[in-house]
Amino acid sequence: MRLTAILNLLKRINDTVETIKTIMTRRSIRAFEKTPVTEAQIKILLEAAMNAPSAGDGRPWCFVVTTDRAKLDALADAVDEGNAMFKQAQAAILICLDESLEKFKGFGPQDCSCAAQNLQLVAHDLGLGTVWIAIIGVPPRVAGCRKVFGVPEHIKPFALFPLGVPAETLPAEARYDEARIHRESWRTE
Ligand SMILES: Cc1cc2nc3c(=O)[nH]c(=O)nc-3n(C[C@H](O)[C@H](O)[C@H](O)COP(=O)(O)O)c2cc1C
Repeated sequence: MRLTAILNLLKRINDTVETIKTIMTRRSIRAFEKTPVTEAQIKILLEAAMNAPSAGDGRPWCFVVTTDRAKLDALADAVDEGNAMFKQAQAAILICLDESLEKFKGFGPQDCSCAAQNLQLVAHDLGLGTVWIAIIGVPPRVAGCRKVFGVPEHIKPFALFPLGVPAETLPAEARYDEARIHRESWRTE
């Protein structure tokens, strides 16, 4: 193997290790420092989200971004029963589903989930905290997002992510569970 090929392989292994570390140490963060979230950070989060896989490469997502204090405070009441999380957040990104962009009908929520997980992992890599706040399927929260952001009826608010520098530290958790794995065929006992 040529030296450049070996170096490329070593770099790939190193990058892979970094990815695993990010996945294994990410936690949901619900308390944030006052440090602002920068436009550069938001851009990277959106790039990562939009680089997600999607059925038929349909990319049926769209995003509403806010760093506005009044809007973030309004979200606290609109989707989080007045909890402090959004009052502390320095930014928030709402992932929405535009069903008219789905390449395969009904796959949109899975597509948006891929974007959402990319966003969460890259936030963690950037030293930001976030948490997936379920919106789709929770009518009062859907209505809250429509009210705060003016999301039109044909667009479905999917999930909301408050963002900020973490003001809490949560330990990595080992969740691997052998009992959930079936090899070759389903185990009944
Ligand atoms: C689809 C989905 C919906 C979630 N909805 C909420 C929510 O509405 N509010 C909230 O505080 N956390 C929500 N979470 C975060 C989970 O509570 C959290 O991921 C879980 O407890 C595991 O903790 P961890 O993210 O720190 O690993 C949601 C997570 C997912 C994947």
